Amino acid sequence: MPNPLRLSHSLFFLVLLPIFVLPNKISLATEKPNANAIASAHPLATDAGHEILAAGGNAFDAAIAITAALAVVEPAGSGLGGGGFFLLHRAQDQFEIMIDAREKAPIAAHRDMYLDKAGDVIKGASLNGPLAAGIPGIPAALEHLAKKYGQLPLSRSLAPAIRYAQDGFPISENYQKKLKWRLNIFKQYPETAAIFLDQGKLPKVGFLLKQSDLASTLQQLTKGKSGFYSGTIAQKLVTGARAAGGIWTLEDLAQYQIIERPPISFNYKQARFVTAAPPSSGGIALATILNILEGYDLEKIDEVDRIHVIVEAMRRAYRDRSVYLGDPDFVDIPVKRLTHQKYAAGLRASIRMDQATASTALPGAPITSTGTDTTHFSVMDAEGNRVAATLSINLPFGAAFAPPGTGVLLNDEMDDFSIKPGEPNAYGLIGNSANAIAPGKRPLSSMTPTFIETTDKVAVLGTPGGSRIITMVLLGILDFMDSQPVHSWVSQKRFHHQYLPDVIQHEKGAFNSKKIKKINGLGHKLQETSRPYGNMQAIFWNKKTGKTEAASDPRGIGKATVIPQNKARFENKNRH
Ligand code: GLY
Repeated sequence: MPNPLRLSHSLFFLVLLPIFVLPNKISLATEKPNANAIASAHPLATDAGHEILAAGGNAFDAAIAITAALAVVEPAGSGLGGGGFFLLHRAQDQFEIMIDAREKAPIAAHRDMYLDKAGDVIKGASLNGPLAAGIPGIPAALEHLAKKYGQLPLSRSLAPAIRYAQDGFPISENYQKKLKWRLNIFKQYPETAAIFLDQGKLPKVGFLLKQSDLASTLQQLTKGKSGFYSGTIAQKLVTGARAAGGIWTLEDLAQYQIIERPPISFNYKQARFVTAAPPSSGGIALATILNILEGYDLEKIDEVDRIHVIVEAMRRAYRDRSVYLGDPDFVDIPVKRLTHQKYAAGLRASIRMDQATASTALPGAPITSTGTDTTHFSVMDAEGNRVAATLSINLPFGAAFAPPGTGVLLNDEMDDFSIKPGEPNAYGLIGNSANAIAPGKRPLSSMTPTFIETTDKVAVLGTPGGSRIITMVLLGILDFMDSQPVHSWVSQKRFHHQYLPDVIQHEKGAFNSKKIKKINGLGHKLQETSRPYGNMQAIFWNKKTGKTEAASDPRGIGKATVIPQNKARFENKNRH
């Protein structure tokens, strides 16, 4: 039986819709998922989010709990010493925003800080130790989320992470592998090594990692941002960083601000996309690629032709990334043009169906590498509030340095800047100056937290993976558009083209030999990646059937759980 109250509500909205709703909004959905869904890269982080939802928190409180838990149990990917982008959707008024918590270059940073006197890049300087670290944004984002969007105090939302840090957690094989890769850098910083290694050696799988300093820092953060950016923690961060060759000052920390930015939003076919704005390159690149692809019937087209046009669209979007994108507070980015369908039509006109375009025919600059060891989580509560958050400290374990007494691993996100801009590249083009280092500037990122919405479906997705993030999210989107289930988006074999190098990188098994032959025949070069890549975390809600699903990438060790609202209430009762 239709609920008359709900019906009159719908009529009310129908009448007012044309006046109050932005033209590119799909609908003012009044439905609710009636279930809490979380997908994250670590089971303990997913559990922390559900604990907070069961305690009466909303998706924004859960996002705080998951972020803080990941800082403890997945320190290779993100943490209080890093940054990221939180994409929010508030159900009650359909408000959408991106919290830009990207790191900022310190005040003493300058364009050539990683170059020697001869102008050559000093190996490792932008990757290892505190000189590689930007001023972190995550602690400020947590306070902002709690104050403006959450329902619980930080002391409650941070509790699971504090517990994990104090009590410890058993390290996984995945953790051990990444640690091994950074072992030599850790050994340069004995006080950091004392936290993450087992008496100077690589810990065994299952080793109980306790982080008492990090627990104390998290405890300080329960006071809010001031617990991190001023007072004793700030003093320890600055003293420790400077003693080991860093340039941070107390002023850097005191000045740090998150920025609320309108997300990039656009339509593709029947779906509306809401995704990351600059200083991420993700949203603009996705818009360009999908606008180009809108000119092809991807459902009917031959399979190899489909791969070909997707690759050609990627090539063109990544070329634009290399030329135009950087921190929007420092450079003028022609966002409207780059995301316009007419601009995409021009790019599409240069695509030949019988032949790959050589990247050398499209002048641009090499892609600034973005570190691969990031993390992503997706969360949606029973009311329909949702968060897609991609967070990073750049390389595994960031700079592999934690200022003594803080337990906070610093990022090496400064490497996401173009550290040697202005040099003519192989094609004589001066590129990447939009992403040159400057004091207070945010480095260009590839992180692409994304929402998709149609009249009856909602998707929340994202992944780590450096410059491949954008194409992974794209493939997830195309799978969604093909009505494939959420498990397929996260597990499908992946391929990637980023303009330079001019090669299609692909996972083993992405193409069979027959396809490889045909793709080569079009003039594309193919290169199989040495290992699988990505760690996508996604949620799907079918508004029509009421079904909610979540999936965690089988390449990682994450956990995706959907808990129906009744069960969540029941758990909440049992807890108190
Ligand atoms: N450090 C990874 C990224 O921002 O894309």
